[in-house]
Amino acid sequence: MFDTLDRRHSRSAKWMMAIEKVGHTSVLAFSVADSDYETAPCVKAALKQRVEHGAYGYTFADETYKSAVLDWFARRYGYKPEKDTLLVTSKVLTALSIVLDTLTETNDAVVIQTPVYHVFYPLVKQHRRKLIENPLLETDANYRIDFEHLESCFKNGAKMLVFCSPHNPVGRVWRDEELTQLIALCKQYDVWLISDEIHADLIMAPHQFKSIASYVDYYDKLIVVQAPGKTFNLAGLQTANLVVFDPHARKQIKKHLDRFFLSGSNVFGIEAMIAAYTNGELWVDAQNNHIAKQAQTLEFWLKTHYPMVKMSPLEGTYLAWLNIEALDKDGTRFEKVCHKEKLVVSAGKPFGRQCVTWMRLNLACSAEQLEEGLKRLDKVFSTLSKTP
Ligand SMILES: Cc1ncc(COP(=O)(O)O)c(C=O)c1O
Repeated sequence: MFDTLDRRHSRSAKWMMAIEKVGHTSVLAFSVADSDYETAPCVKAALKQRVEHGAYGYTFADETYKSAVLDWFARRYGYKPEKDTLLVTSKVLTALSIVLDTLTETNDAVVIQTPVYHVFYPLVKQHRRKLIENPLLETDANYRIDFEHLESCFKNGAKMLVFCSPHNPVGRVWRDEELTQLIALCKQYDVWLISDEIHADLIMAPHQFKSIASYVDYYDKLIVVQAPGKTFNLAGLQTANLVVFDPHARKQIKKHLDRFFLSGSNVFGIEAMIAAYTNGELWVDAQNNHIAKQAQTLEFWLKTHYPMVKMSPLEGTYLAWLNIEALDKDGTRFEKVCHKEKLVVSAGKPFGRQCVTWMRLNLACSAEQLEEGLKRLDKVFSTLSKTP
């Protein structure tokens, strides 16, 4: 399990973009958030069986699908929504986009907490909503929510918060106290809380994930968007779920999805999700142990060789977030040197204006791939530390 898998010639977006950037197939990619090892054996087996069937026509997300999803919610996230709260679409981004477009108007203020998954910026702007940033407070590479500033955003009339839980790229798993305070504020100012929980299964012990949906009895202007794309490496199968508690909002969102023919998913996505959520639990636990070990390897390597590089504690996700300011003061040289060493990671800037000296490194690969990546990173860091 979690062995090296060469994805260079499989039309993988991550690897194709990396090869294009560096101009050589010997590149190593630690960028886009998908994994470089096989999915769970139960998922692969279910897909093989479905391929063998030979007919791939229109497919329903039926009762078996809904039960598999909602039982997974109950077992892994500590709550079980009613079946009729569930809507199905292709991508998490499709779901977020439709929710935003349905529940807010042009020029409405929508808050995101930065640094954050870079696509949240165009997500808000492309709908011509006013993007309001509530920057996370950073102390020594660790992050917390600035509740005071968030309250001022709400006071000034923000209509929605697009929340990332766990938070890509800073790796936070939000605590119960933080979520309680967040929901209380949303309730006080009547703000829609949309929680992107795509990384919800990627949790490092002893941290525990709690979905915002568990607070629905206290406040119901909550929407959860979720998918097995990251957990089981299924992003290419494009299947995502929305949980919408408010019946009126649910009806509107469903209508909007239908208007663009975006309800439902595809034959393989549905099959894969049923298998993953029915039989994939032990594999997910093993993957979390693997990611935690990868994070320890990276942390130990940094402490030993480059203690001036700070890494945010990895509570959740498989994305390590590093501050390399001590090696590249204004963040102008880092990427060029990386590419010279045939290494591609994610630069910090797209996640937030304040992040030019940060980088994100995807740990969802084999231990061997990480080891080779660290050899290349060593050359990058050593070049940077020698030249001003
Ligand atoms: C927080 C977050 N949301 C959404 C996505 C994209 O999800 P999808 O491919 O299902 O649209 C990603 C992918 O990296 C992500 O990190």
